[in-house]
Amino acid sequence: MSDSGQVRLLASISVELIDIIQEYPSPSGGVTRVVDGISLAFSKPGINMLLGPSGCGKSTILQMMGGVRPINAKTPTSGKVMINGIECNDAHDDSVMVFQRYANRPDLSVYDNVAFPFRLNLWKKKVPEAEWHKRVAEMLEETGLKDKKDLSPAQLSGGQNQRVALARALVLRPRILLMDEPFGALDAQTREEMQRLLISLYNEHPCLIVFVTHDVTEALMLGDRVIVLSSQPAKVSDDFTITAMRPRSADWQRSDEARQLEKRILTSLHTAPGRGVVRVTI
Ligand SMILES: Nc1ncnc2c1ncn2[C@@H]1O[C@H](COP(=O)(O)OP(=O)(O)OP(=O)(O)O)[C@@H](O)[C@H]1O
Ligand SMILES: [Mg+2]
Repeated sequence: MSDSGQVRLLASISVELIDIIQEYPSPSGGVTRVVDGISLAFSKPGINMLLGPSGCGKSTILQMMGGVRPINAKTPTSGKVMINGIECNDAHDDSVMVFQRYANRPDLSVYDNVAFPFRLNLWKKKVPEAEWHKRVAEMLEETGLKDKKDLSPAQLSGGQNQRVALARALVLRPRILLMDEPFGALDAQTREEMQRLLISLYNEHPCLIVFVTHDVTEALMLGDRVIVLSSQPAKVSDDFTITAMRPRSADWQRSDEARQLEKRILTSLHTAPGRGVVRVTI
C-alpha cells in the first residue's frame, strides 16, 4: 500500500461502542441481558482480538458493529455504535464480515464466489469491471487459490473454503474487517496455516480487524490488542496490547511474555462470575 493510502486509512478509520447494553427476549418471558455496558474504541489498523467464553455475547457485539440485526430484538437495546464518527445501525460500506461457516455459494465456482460482491449493484457501481477482475485475480493468488478457481466449494477442504471467504471479503478493500471465529471449525494444523495467511494478508492490506475467538492461544498469536470479555452478561474484564512482531514463533509462544499474558487472560476469565469455556492450544 502507498504511503498516501496508509495515511488516508489512518486518518479516517474509527469504530466506537458507547455504553452498549443488549437484552434479548428470554424463552421464559422477560428479557436476558447479554451485553452489560460495553464501551470500546478502535481507531487504527490493527488486529483486535475479542476473547471470551462461549455464549458470553461476542457474536452479538460483532454483529452490532457490522449492522447485522436479529429480527426479535432492537440492537443495541441502548448505547451507540459509531463508525467514522457517525452513529451506524446498518451494514456499512467500509466494513465486511467473515463467519465460521464461510457462506460460500455451492452453485458458484471459486472465482465467482470471490467475485460475488461485484454482482451487487452497490459494488458494481463503485468498482469498474476491469478493476474488480484484477482484484479477484490478485486475491486468488494471495490466498493460494489460483489453481482452484474453477472448482466448486464442495470440492474444497474447510481451510480452502475459508480462504474463499477471506478472499471475497478482501476484494472489497474493507477498512474494517469483522471476523467471527473464522477458524473455529478447522483442525489445529489448518487453523495455524490460516492464522499465518491472515497475518500476511493483513500486512498486504492493513485494515481494522476485530476478530472474535474463544481460543486464548489464537488471541496471543494474532492480536495487537486483546480485549477479554466476562461470561454473560459480557463486560470488558481486561484490555491490553501485545507488541511482539508477527508471525510469532514457537519460541515466543514459550517465552515469559507469552506465558504471563496467558496467565493474565486465564485469571481474568476465571475471576469472572459463572465462567464459560475457553480453549488454550499451547
Ligand atoms: N436473537 C437472539 N434472541 C435471543 N437470544 C439470543 C439472540 N442472539 C443471541 N442470543 C443469546 O445471547 C447469548 C450470547 O450469544 P452470542 O451468540 O452473542 O454469544 P457468543 O459469545 O458469540 O457465543 P459462542 O462462543 O458460542 O459463539 C446467548 O445466550 C444466546 O443464546
Ligand atoms: Mg458466537
